[in-house]
Amino acid sequence: MVKIIPHSSMSVQQQIEELRKELNEHNYRYYVLSQPTISDVEFDKKIKQLEELEAGHPEYSDSNSPTQRVGNDLAKEFTKVTHRYPMLSLGNTYSESEITDFFDRAARLLNEPFDIVCELKFDGVSISLQYENGKLVRAATRGDGVVGDDVTTNVKTIRSIPLQLLGDDYPESFEMRGEVLLPWKVFDAINREREEQEDQLFANPRNAASGTLKLQNPKEVAKRQLDSYFYYLLGEQLPSDEHYENLQKTKTWGFKVSDAIRKCHSLTEVFDFIHFWDKKRNTLPFATDGIVLKINSLRQQELLGSTAKSPRWAVAFKYQAEQAVTTLQNIEFQVGRTGVVTPVANLEPVLLAGTVVKRATLHNADVMASLHLHRGDRVLIEKGGEIIPKIVSVAKINNQESEISFIKTCPSCGTPLVRVEGEAGFYCPNDASCAPQIKGKIEHFISRKAMNIDGIGAETVDLLFQQQLIRTTADLYTLQPSQLIRLERLGEKSVQNIIAAIEKSKRVPFERVLFALGIRYVGEKVAKALANAFRNLDALTKATASGLASVDEIGDKIAQSVVAFFADPNNLLLVEQLKQAGLQFAIADDKLTQMSNRLAGKTIVISGVFTHHTRDEYKSLITQHGGKEASAISTKTSFLLAGEQAGPSKLSKAKSLSVPIKNESEFLLMIEETSTEVTPKQQTTLF
Ligand code: IVH
Repeated sequence: MVKIIPHSSMSVQQQIEELRKELNEHNYRYYVLSQPTISDVEFDKKIKQLEELEAGHPEYSDSNSPTQRVGNDLAKEFTKVTHRYPMLSLGNTYSESEITDFFDRAARLLNEPFDIVCELKFDGVSISLQYENGKLVRAATRGDGVVGDDVTTNVKTIRSIPLQLLGDDYPESFEMRGEVLLPWKVFDAINREREEQEDQLFANPRNAASGTLKLQNPKEVAKRQLDSYFYYLLGEQLPSDEHYENLQKTKTWGFKVSDAIRKCHSLTEVFDFIHFWDKKRNTLPFATDGIVLKINSLRQQELLGSTAKSPRWAVAFKYQAEQAVTTLQNIEFQVGRTGVVTPVANLEPVLLAGTVVKRATLHNADVMASLHLHRGDRVLIEKGGEIIPKIVSVAKINNQESEISFIKTCPSCGTPLVRVEGEAGFYCPNDASCAPQIKGKIEHFISRKAMNIDGIGAETVDLLFQQQLIRTTADLYTLQPSQLIRLERLGEKSVQNIIAAIEKSKRVPFERVLFALGIRYVGEKVAKALANAFRNLDALTKATASGLASVDEIGDKIAQSVVAFFADPNNLLLVEQLKQAGLQFAIADDKLTQMSNRLAGKTIVISGVFTHHTRDEYKSLITQHGGKEASAISTKTSFLLAGEQAGPSKLSKAKSLSVPIKNESEFLLMIEETSTEVTPKQQTTLF
């Protein structure tokens, strides 16, 4: 099936088409069948070959080419899409007798033999794909069932979704419905990374998949490795009158359809399927929360019809979340690097959903108080879609003990805990000398995505802390080899490595230094946005909450946290010491150069997708030319820089406030005219 290409006698167009076809097949083999026939290296070589051919021949460009899957940097607001066929939901039941009722009702209404197709109920995000002449033309989320979000660019990054269908026997126009999901393995990896960075964890793969699909940057979406399964074909000219046959057919076009599907002729077969997967679903690589039953014949489906909300020809049987009863041994209070105290229940080990559970999170003081827990209580624990088990209720109270209350003082340093108004968590305010906070901050500072100081791990941090060699992150930069070599467990080689890694970290760019500081709510993305908008630390320390909140992606909560961080003299001192040590506290010069003052005094709002530069680049250009970028349109806005698919609400607001709208070329002309106006001497030097 796989041909050897490119052939010298082929025209460029033919070569491009052949390569696309071949790569689509390999994609399908790898991501849908999990049976690759070439190595990753060979695949990448072919992609590169195609990229080069396409770059040299833009006349043959195609937005569905396999080279277009990685997405690009263009962020955009989602356009609304009205579904051709409304996306209904399914009636749910947890009861087997209601499944019998569903069967009996269908038998009564149809009054003729019928089959029922049983499928897994995938626990992800539903998606509708529109195909025209074998090409994916649009992908939309369910939204409210009538109108959804156009997420085509993001969906194109999902490798198991065909952009160009295989074979040639597909209808000219049809819609494919299915579920976008994150396999457990990917979900666990994402959460491990988030845990390392004390980012909020995704509660379950469904939330993670939904959050991912709505990301504004398709490159970020591509990194998250979403997967898909399809379960419903819609259109005017379908291959068969049977739902089951149609799904099997769509496999040959390149769609991923689960093999866990059965055409049942009786209720006994339906229950067999339900019971089988209740036991086995833990072995699946993705989350499922039940079984969907569908009448197989499309004619019979039509006869049964739908209510406004859901079809009468289908129903979902949901599995109970897996539960177990065990004994609560005690409650431990953990202090994180930001001082937040989390109660964690230690349990007598018990088997739940295939794993031994020893601990359950109690989230915060409110959740803990609502359960009224005592040592020795028999507690009901549950692991639904959630990765971390939770205590649902107390099955039997141990009256010998009194209720465990939330601690009043820090378990590590004894400082009275405080509670931020409006928040559920208590925290230890002693950030300057509370051991777990200090160690946690240093561990975060040296972590891979921050300063990436390898050679030091949590154990070494602990050792250095115990030996009183480090109290702040700045102390890392004054460590001497002679101090380290005295420590047990550290040989000469590792001391050399540590010192070299610390030295190397002085070249880590500003945005990562900012992330490494561990300011509450300032994760990797926020740090990048702040670095781009303020460009150096001086500007950032002087920023007001409203100035901060005018940056895209920065909300009030983050803005206040940044202001509070720089209002603390200890933090200012630390930052000063780090600056003295030689860390990067400004965006590199080439990105920083002030180019003109042409946009001085102008406040500009950006919306839409651009072709010459990314949105971030336009933001930098605005500041480099002395202007200010804002996220919302007001009477103070000088003009709206609108790209393709600019947000309709922004456009109409601009029109109603008579704010001028400029397109990309107009904007580029504005700054081009003046780029020679400023002499090098006039350039602002920052730091
Ligand atoms: S069929 C008109 N089949 O469940 C019926 N849905 O509660 C169309 N779902 O929004 C849906 N697995 O996101 C169908 N095998 C499956 C499914 C499935 C998961 C989701 C889907 C839908 C929701 C309904």
